[in-house]
Amino acid sequence: EKVSLWGGRFSGGPADALAALSKSTHFDWRLARQDIAGSRAHAQVLAAAGLLDEPTLHAMLTGLDELESDVLAGTFTPAEDDEDVHTALERGLIERAGADVGGRLRAGRSRNDQIATLFRMYLREQARHLAGRVLDVVDALLAQAERHHGVAMPGRTHLQHAQPVLLSHHLLAHVWALLRDVDRFGDWDRRADASPYGSGALAGSSLGLDPEKVAAELGFARSVENSIDGTAARDFAAEFAFVCAMTAVDISRIAEEVVLWATKEFGFIRLEDAYSTGSSIMPQKKNPDVAELARGKAGRLVGDLAGLLTTLKALPLAYNRDLQEDKEPVFDAIDTLDVLLPAFAGMVATMQFDTERLESLAPQGFSLATDIAEWLVRQGVPFRIAHEVAGGCVRTCEERGIELWDLSDNDLAAISPHLTSGVREVLSVQGSLASRDAKGGTAPVRVAEQLTAARGAALRA
Ligand code: ARG
Repeated sequence: EKVSLWGGRFSGGPADALAALSKSTHFDWRLARQDIAGSRAHAQVLAAAGLLDEPTLHAMLTGLDELESDVLAGTFTPAEDDEDVHTALERGLIERAGADVGGRLRAGRSRNDQIATLFRMYLREQARHLAGRVLDVVDALLAQAERHHGVAMPGRTHLQHAQPVLLSHHLLAHVWALLRDVDRFGDWDRRADASPYGSGALAGSSLGLDPEKVAAELGFARSVENSIDGTAARDFAAEFAFVCAMTAVDISRIAEEVVLWATKEFGFIRLEDAYSTGSSIMPQKKNPDVAELARGKAGRLVGDLAGLLTTLKALPLAYNRDLQEDKEPVFDAIDTLDVLLPAFAGMVATMQFDTERLESLAPQGFSLATDIAEWLVRQGVPFRIAHEVAGGCVRTCEERGIELWDLSDNDLAAISPHLTSGVREVLSVQGSLASRDAKGGTAPVRVAEQLTAARGAALRA
């Protein structure tokens, strides 16, 4: 017959089908280290409250140490009958320290405050880890931006040629987005920095235990203000899943560009062989699978977030078993980013830009038309008219199959008397770039400052 944590009022063990449904060790076992750390801290406050004498505390801590090394060595693992990580580790402690010592640890705590605490501890560790992996992608982008500082490319809106920009300016746009994701992990941590231990099942503990002491022991700045909130809230998990999803979505926007840039038609980049795949049938193929997987996995992370929010929606207070469903989506988000980010950083670090092609495409598609309009404004022409005149230049060029800089002085004069040959000073990519020199603009001097600022922000992150 199965043993359970609630023998007293039950006439028998759980049905096999219930046990199978209930079981969570296949995913919550990754919280074993945190569970043992929680048990150590709890043992200390039990002793401080006079509920464990010195020899019992000692035996309990020794048992926990042994259990921890067996867990780390893989020699203690959940058994078929263990429901969750807490049940398994209580069995492990009892096997090592005996039923009298091991059986005292459960006083004044519940799996409800335990799981709420362990989950936060684990996520706080992962937040730091994942932020580091995002910073690896940031580093790869920064290195490319630094290497190619000064190279122009076609800047796009609606995927159409819009205005020339610096390649480094474009890459830095992705860097700032990722730096905000890194910042979000840190910001999330400030809210997650409260321990629910001591909340018990929902109402708090009657045993004179000190939640603040446990919190400090487990690396939290404080314990929660409300035991019901402490055991029932999962906004910390949902917010974490959001930060993961946002990161994946930001990565997917780079990924989509990489997929496009690697096509014959764009021809902006060549991916390193080590970060490309071939085709089993088409010998010539070189596919951007890292970028495609990044694009695809972003959908998966959005799904993880959506699933978790749906579980939480309208859930009454306090703990409900539905909450056991909180972990798998968040673990999936973590594991997915953990395999994705290193591959993505490697792909970005090793991709080769065809800078000649980027430069030669930068002024095409009449991307200097705005420069004509703004030059006219500087000559005192109202923008409404300037826009018309520049549009007229584009129409003439399109009709004749030429570029803006091919227009002769006579052509210009025929389009508008405002257009003198002086306009030619902005009809070059370098002139256009240099003119956008307000803060945040693509002028090489501003982008050089931006590179320094982004490097600094990445170092401080
Ligand atoms: N394994 C559960 C979870 O992950 C914690 C156990 C609480 N179970 C309970 N019946 N009170 O949420």
